[in-house]
Amino acid sequence: MRKQLDARGREILITGGTSGVGLETAKILVAANARVTLVGSDPAKGAAAERALSELGSGQSTFVAADLSSLNEVHRLAVMLAERLDRLDVLINNAGIVTTSRAVTVDGYERTFAVNYLAPFALTGELLPLLGRAQAGRILSLTAAVEPIGRLRFDDLQSARHFGGLRAYAQSKRALAMYTIELARRLQEEKAPVTANVVDPFVVRTGLTSSHDVPALFKLSRPLMIRPATAARWVARVAVDERLAGTTGRHFMLGRRAPSPPGSRSRRRAARLWDVSTELVRIAQAAVPASEPGLQARA
Ligand SMILES: NC(=O)c1ccc[n+]([C@@H]2O[C@H](COP(=O)([O-])OP(=O)(O)OC[C@H]3O[C@@H](n4cnc5c(N)ncnc54)[C@H](OP(=O)(O)O)[C@@H]3O)[C@@H](O)[C@H]2O)c1
Repeated sequence: MRKQLDARGREILITGGTSGVGLETAKILVAANARVTLVGSDPAKGAAAERALSELGSGQSTFVAADLSSLNEVHRLAVMLAERLDRLDVLINNAGIVTTSRAVTVDGYERTFAVNYLAPFALTGELLPLLGRAQAGRILSLTAAVEPIGRLRFDDLQSARHFGGLRAYAQSKRALAMYTIELARRLQEEKAPVTANVVDPFVVRTGLTSSHDVPALFKLSRPLMIRPATAARWVARVAVDERLAGTTGRHFMLGRRAPSPPGSRSRRRAARLWDVSTELVRIAQAAVPASEPGLQARA
């Protein structure tokens, strides 16, 4: 028999918690009595997600509208959370996009790289103090099956010279996994009570894979797709299962521990990526006036 998850009283943040894998994960965690904060850019989707979650009883959910393609909004989200929460038990870096054409964010960065990688890099860094206040904080980053083919092109991280939707998606997932593994190492060295792991839900039938604006490979893989609720069970387990307390710096695929792609464990490249990312975030946040208003939570 499958073990029931118990997340009573846990404070959990899910970016991109308003549809697909994120929403299904929120349903499992709210049903397991967690307090879940969902982040998404679309307030209508957020309101619908809250309604769906309110019918599950026991736990609680709050939606915060934030466009994670803007590093200023990422910062304002972190400030708002630090004011509202006394600790964060679990951060699930789930929000993600894939596109077929290149677009640039308000900060001037390629959109896939910004949403899938720079936003979680910046948000996680800002939320570490809150995670450190939990008894055993957990960070999860959602990767994808294309991570092993993702190449970090340090001379063209913004895909300005050459853009391909799949290539940009794979690069962003490689970057997120590398960062998460390097973060796990640094947290372990500091003896911080926080773990960080990477979760690959395989290929899931969601808006991300079903829209017309996705690379051909996604369309071809439709027959293999699994249900979002199945992927969500795997994510929720890594988020709260007591048996995984202390597990850090690992990949999970199809609900099990899996070897990390060798290229994602390079410490040298991870350190370079960390330094470059710190600078990209600093430049974007320095360009914004300090007087911008804060974000509003719905609940
Ligand atoms: N589906 C798959 O086959 C698959 C496979 C492997 C990995 N993954 C990963 O799993 C994660 C979830 O994917 P999914 O398939 O569940 O996708 P989805 O159904 O399209 O959901 C994506 C979520 O991200 C949010 N989001 C997108 N852009 C955002 C932005 N700029 N600011 C704030 N939130 C934003 C969306 O909310 P708004 O629309 O409100 O912005 C939505 O809640 C992603 O990281 C994806 O790469 C998916």
